[in-house]
Amino acid sequence: MQQRIPNFMSSPELSYSEKVSQATSFVRQQTDSVPRVAIILGTGLGKLATHITPELTLPYAEIPHFPQSTALSHQGQLVVGTLEEITVVAMQGRFHLYEGYPLADAVLPVHVMQSLGADILVVSNASGGVNPKYAGGDIMVMSSHINLMFRQNHQLSNASLIAPALEQPGTLLYDQDLIELALQTGRDQDFAIHEGCYVSLTGPNYETRSEYRMVRKIGGDVVGMSTVPEVLTAHSLNMRVLALSAVTNVAKPNVLTETTAEEVVDIARLAEPKLTAIVTNLLRTL
Ligand code: HPA
Repeated sequence: MQQRIPNFMSSPELSYSEKVSQATSFVRQQTDSVPRVAIILGTGLGKLATHITPELTLPYAEIPHFPQSTALSHQGQLVVGTLEEITVVAMQGRFHLYEGYPLADAVLPVHVMQSLGADILVVSNASGGVNPKYAGGDIMVMSSHINLMFRQNHQLSNASLIAPALEQPGTLLYDQDLIELALQTGRDQDFAIHEGCYVSLTGPNYETRSEYRMVRKIGGDVVGMSTVPEVLTAHSLNMRVLALSAVTNVAKPNVLTETTAEEVVDIARLAEPKLTAIVTNLLRTL
């Protein structure tokens, strides 16, 4: 039986890079496999991981410095294995700022997956559509975002905890070739797929009718509460990024209906095979 290192999230004496390195070593001790692609599975999308032939599955609670996943339908485990003969590392469940995590903690797994070897990040989420041409179950490939979620030091009481990667944000964050590849998969397999702009809000509430109107007015196609921190981190670690949004509810601000977390999970699950098709196609090109 492998000896488990205790999870010491509250280790302010360690530098950020020491935490990343301890978490990476913990995984490394248990597998020699070097993942090429990192996958973050958002709300209702965790099932994609079941297509991976697993070599190693680690609950977040066992990985040093990993936060715990509390959000609905987020399983909270890291899976290393193969999909389409490519080694991947997947997060079944992610960390949201609305759960109370400091930004640096929420993006630590991205550093760890990059340090394990991944140079592509595929990140997914469930979102609310504000583009009236979108329908529940559609996929939107993110080609841009508007970050209304945090500024550089939001939620950071201790400046030394700032994730180093976020100190050097880029501007062309989303890989154009990967966007094209995703769109082509949608066309080939005949499902509705769009390219658009994701607006990130901190949440935790789904938006009010005024917020949905604002999101549309400022140029958003969908709105959600995640993804931007991971994208910024991955980009500044020189990873190529593909971000896929499963549209679960389409907001009609004038006749707004209640959105429930259960409904979001159910519709995201319906979109999951489309996501799997895109990821599988991408891996075949590597
Ligand atoms: N707003 C924010 N996040 C979401 C939504 C929404 O309407 N639907 C799914 N995730």
